Amino acid sequence: MFNKRIKIKKLLGGQPSGQQVTVMGWVKSFRNNQFIALNDGSTNSNIQVVTELGKFDEALLRRITISAALKVSGQLVPSLGKGQQMEIKAGEIIILGDSDAEKYPLQPKKHSLEFLREIAHLRFRTNTFGAVFRVRHSLAFAIHQFFNEKGFVYLHTPIITASDAEGAGEMFKVTTLPFDNTPRTADGEVNYKEDFFGRATNLTVSGQLEGELGATGLGEIYTFGPTFRAENSNTPRHLAEFWMIEPEMAFCDLEDNMNLAEEFIKYIIRYAMEHNREDLDFLQQRLMEEEKQLPQDKRSEMNLLSKLEFVLNNAFERITYTEAVDILLLSPPYKKKKFQYEVKWGMDLQSEHERYLVEKHFKKPVIVTDYPAAIKAFYMRQNDDGKTVAAMDILAPGIGEIVGGSQREERLEKLEARMKAMNVPQEELSWYLDTRRFGTVPHAGFGLGFERMVQFVTGMSNIRDVIPFPRTPKNAAF
Ligand code: 4AD
Ligand code: MG
Repeated sequence: MFNKRIKIKKLLGGQPSGQQVTVMGWVKSFRNNQFIALNDGSTNSNIQVVTELGKFDEALLRRITISAALKVSGQLVPSLGKGQQMEIKAGEIIILGDSDAEKYPLQPKKHSLEFLREIAHLRFRTNTFGAVFRVRHSLAFAIHQFFNEKGFVYLHTPIITASDAEGAGEMFKVTTLPFDNTPRTADGEVNYKEDFFGRATNLTVSGQLEGELGATGLGEIYTFGPTFRAENSNTPRHLAEFWMIEPEMAFCDLEDNMNLAEEFIKYIIRYAMEHNREDLDFLQQRLMEEEKQLPQDKRSEMNLLSKLEFVLNNAFERITYTEAVDILLLSPPYKKKKFQYEVKWGMDLQSEHERYLVEKHFKKPVIVTDYPAAIKAFYMRQNDDGKTVAAMDILAPGIGEIVGGSQREERLEKLEARMKAMNVPQEELSWYLDTRRFGTVPHAGFGLGFERMVQFVTGMSNIRDVIPFPRTPKNAAF
């Protein structure tokens, strides 16, 4: 058997008592022809491998270059040097893969995140991205654990769909029709009857509608999958392909929904803090270095771990949209005309407004409820005031909107009237309306943008740095 290695994380968690071990990994550095720092991705820490002078061939030593892949067997002993508790006295070194140091794009120095994005295929070998993707993994694991403990069913909703769940029309089309000689109907329209599915289809923007079907039979479900939006937003918070978690609960109102969302967010943050301490310490340090470049007033008031701790220990603020607008109208930036976008009841809150509310006014996550019906999707439950709907958005410091959700309209006539008013085709969604025709129940759900959550926990300021291979306008490399 080839793989009898011990992972470096496990090795560093044990005691060095002269035992024989085998590790495999990539060379981070090789000092004085004697000290190799080896990393295998299981932890940010390297194991030091010592090559006794004279023991190995010069030819072999010359091949121990940055990012070469090695298999090392030797004795694990306490280290006499500073900076590490243990090291491996190399008995055998096998070069698994050479790496030409001249050509290798990552040098042992600081690279900008922008540069690393261009070599996203190699950035997993850096400390920063090692930490980010281990934290991302932990959050994903914690999400499944949270819902599993609560008895939710993980539902796989389709990625190719014929419906536009959000009604925002920002969809990628899916088709096998040719661009030239596209089949046309008599009146010149594209003839989708000849397409693969016999109809127009697109990549899903949300699994919610199908999630509602699941919840109104299984009781409580969640989805966790990729979603796609063709919005031309070049911002540090938008991706064209992102992962979303969408729980949907029967027998649930807006307040239950908010309570679940808050408990959920706190649970997964706590999980990462308990299981990824080393990575979060590293990311906190990284963020501090990065913020040194910024003027004092642009730096975070709290370091990363204190911020996360603070979120765990404080209830999220809950206010209505109407209250939020009132706060904004009385705010210093509004009075000094510092906001770029208008503040007026009925208009959507822009990211600058959301950030004022969470970062300056409340200084903690805020749940904004009861938005004007006109700016929200057709499926949200209409409030008695005739103007607002039972929506909730959760806004997080440094990120803005991290969750969007609502109680759903379960009353058939009201839902149909709203669909008509908003030009949502009822015939195409008759399967959706069936849940309201047969045993309809109050139900609610929300969507958490996974990458925005990873940004919040890791402190990474650009969303392109928390997903392995970002898809953004004009960019689908790798
Ligand atoms: O607010 P949104 O559009 O809500 C929905 O899709 C509902 N169907 C959810 C539900 O009730 N089941 O999106 C939900 C979240 C946002 O709050 C944001 O965190 C994230 O998805 N999101 C994006 N993340 C990255 N890039 C984008 N382009 C995103 N658009 C939305
Ligand atoms: Mg939203």
